[in-house]
Amino acid sequence: MATVIAFCNQKGGTGKTTTAVNVASYLVALGKRVLVVDIDPQANATSGIGVQAGERHLYHGLVRDAHPDELIRHSGLMNLHVLPGHPDLAAATVELVPMENREYRLRDLLRRVGRRYDFILIDPPPTLDLLTINALTAADQVIIPVQCEYYALEGLARLMHTINLVNQNLKMKVRTMGALLTMFDRTSRLHRAVARDVRKKFPGYVFDAVIPRNVSLAEAPSFGKTILQYDPYSHGAKAYRKLAQEIVKIEKE
Ligand SMILES: Nc1ncnc2c1ncn2[C@@H]1O[C@H](COP(=O)(O)OP(=O)(O)OP(=O)(O)O)[C@@H](O)[C@H]1O
Ligand SMILES: [Mg+2]
Repeated sequence: MATVIAFCNQKGGTGKTTTAVNVASYLVALGKRVLVVDIDPQANATSGIGVQAGERHLYHGLVRDAHPDELIRHSGLMNLHVLPGHPDLAAATVELVPMENREYRLRDLLRRVGRRYDFILIDPPPTLDLLTINALTAADQVIIPVQCEYYALEGLARLMHTINLVNQNLKMKVRTMGALLTMFDRTSRLHRAVARDVRKKFPGYVFDAVIPRNVSLAEAPSFGKTILQYDPYSHGAKAYRKLAQEIVKIEKE
């Protein structure tokens, strides 16, 4: 069965989507079979990989019981597939409420295809709504992308608390694989201080790989390309390659 990883942070713009998409590209480069699940109504992971959602997308899987095989698209990059997101997912947050098993719809959907993948990477929205709860209950592990800014520590502590609450209340065992420092500027004294504090406060829970602020990472999605396709020699590409290697190593252990 696939290892399912959700990239979570209730704060917006911390690099969740950029990380999901680019880690996916380096996992497939390492020979893994990967499915990216875009459960964000913004659908940035879908367009960032260069996939058109079309008429059928994750909304139909979550709310209309469509089989994932009808919805999954090939990305054009090796063994990388996408379960596309769509703005209609915003309606799913409401339509799911009266449904049976509303917190576990994604988990049940992904179980139908889990055998075909080594990794399933979920990109949730920056909210704590039913979509994100579905991402958490479907996940074995959570990776938390954090920006090196003044409130990073508080945000990280709050999210770890939320994950504990989800585990207790929904009887889940989601584990935190680690926090990932994103958009890091090594010339910034604040960034260096925050990075140091995060490592000190959460020892063993911060990836060695640090993602630098890198213009190629910001440009790639507008071409519908991952960084591996757009600028494989950039600092951003090297950082995501290192992160993918770390994830594979942790997964083996
Ligand atoms: N390392 C980086 N260097 C430069 N720009 C980056 C980097 N990582 C992300 N960005 C840019 O920052 C913005 C936010 O990143 P991204 O969309 O990955 O965050 P997010 O957490 O998924 O946001 P949301 O919470 O809205 O889903 C995007 O415009 C993205 O291209
Ligand atoms: Mg996003």
